[in-house]
Amino acid sequence: MKKPAENCTFVIFGATGNLAKTKLIIALYHLYVDKLLPKGIHIVGLGRSIEDKDAWIASLMEELKARARGGLNASLFKSFCDKLHYFKTYMKTPEDYQNLKQYLEQKTFSKNIAFYFSLPPSLYAPVTGSLGDVGLLKEDTGWRRVVVEKPFGSDLESSRDLQRYFERYMDESQIYRIDHYLGKETVQNVQVFRFANLLLEPLWNRNYIDHVQISHSETIGIGSRSGYYDRTGALRDMIQSHLLQLLSLVAMEPPVSMQAEDLRNEKVKLLRSISPIPKGAVSSHAFRAQYTNGLVNDKEVKSYLEEEGIPEESACETYAALKLHVNNWRWRGVPFYLRTGKRMAEKRSMVAICFRQTPKQFFRTSQLQQFEPNWLLIGIQPDETLRMELTVKKPGLDMKTKVISMDACFSDEMSKDAYEGLLLDVMEGDHTLFLRSDEVEESWKIVDPVLRSWGSQRDYIQTYPAGSWGPDESLRLFEKESQKWRCSLEPDKK
Ligand code: BG6
Repeated sequence: MKKPAENCTFVIFGATGNLAKTKLIIALYHLYVDKLLPKGIHIVGLGRSIEDKDAWIASLMEELKARARGGLNASLFKSFCDKLHYFKTYMKTPEDYQNLKQYLEQKTFSKNIAFYFSLPPSLYAPVTGSLGDVGLLKEDTGWRRVVVEKPFGSDLESSRDLQRYFERYMDESQIYRIDHYLGKETVQNVQVFRFANLLLEPLWNRNYIDHVQISHSETIGIGSRSGYYDRTGALRDMIQSHLLQLLSLVAMEPPVSMQAEDLRNEKVKLLRSISPIPKGAVSSHAFRAQYTNGLVNDKEVKSYLEEEGIPEESACETYAALKLHVNNWRWRGVPFYLRTGKRMAEKRSMVAICFRQTPKQFFRTSQLQQFEPNWLLIGIQPDETLRMELTVKKPGLDMKTKVISMDACFSDEMSKDAYEGLLLDVMEGDHTLFLRSDEVEESWKIVDPVLRSWGSQRDYIQTYPAGSWGPDESLRLFEKESQKWRCSLEPDKK
């Protein structure tokens, strides 16, 4: 049972940055409009590039106007602004943190404080250390929580180092490792779909499922994030976090309950059952590529190497695909294919489950063609849908078939952004949709052999034209000729 959120002070590090502008402030505004925020909440933006609150609010307006549901309500926005505060700081010296501490000790502010690190990952440790050194992480007078974005570390070793560092200043219960995919309605629906519908359970295993694809494609490039992206790449940016989380929800065993620890225990168990990719077999399990220039939605776009701030010899991958095997009773022998890419043909995230062929083609002597296998598609975005494909007879005298899909589309009901629920969870102290340290560690273990191998081959990377579905060479990951990337929710387009 969720506890209602207590009053708190919500402090955003990096308040002038992209995430704060495009996601956090909007989410807080929507929660305010929906009367879900605690009455006495105050939101403090920390930044160095802007002088004061008025200038900060002015810098947020463009995104707020564009994204506010139903338009920005002038009077509600005015009262929301009363909750906003801005504290200009360089966040470098111990004095900066002493000043912040004094600032937060003002009577206006609640002693319960959530610190949101909307910062480059390299700053997570120094900022935590500095907050800890001035006593801002001690829970003597109220709770103190820290929200960190992914990636948590840049590989297994660095994530362990970061974890050890965090433990010097905080308990695990104070840390909220956010993965915004877990806040998406459709992702949460995966659990409901699996565990509230008995008819699927008998089919959800190696006896009936041929393979599973988890894919995320985007049409956007790297925008203004070259500094972050070129150090990170698609494998760390999407697969190590969001797609492995999706995989755990699709493949895990039913948890004892939906409470945070029970759910996270099951996810960890699943991640631990994934067979490690052998050092010598990285190329048959992983594929990477980078976009060149091309046409996206009929517009000419530049190549990755021409993006501002990208070194001309960069071998950073903007496309990554992985084949994984879950070595447990339920899934042994079923390949899971994960794929992500920027500047692809379409924006689409989906889980596509391909069932085995029927054991016998009964109608071989008739004009019936080879049956298509059944697919179950979980569209995550932009179409939020559950779709089951079945083969039926085409009306007419001939015995011909076609594939139809039974569609449960719930797009109309969708309105909330993933961050809204997650920010509220932080205030309510609910860890269910946040990653535990062992979950992050297990995810790094899975991708680490690939990172090491790719890291040692920095002089060449395959390419794909922007606006395409990525290189055909990635098909080498598939185990059977009948398996290939599923790009569309439509049966006739696939
Ligand atoms: C972020 C990645 O975590 O997720 C981005 O850093 C990516 O590179 C984004 O574009 C995708 O999120 P969504 O919700 O748009 O699918």
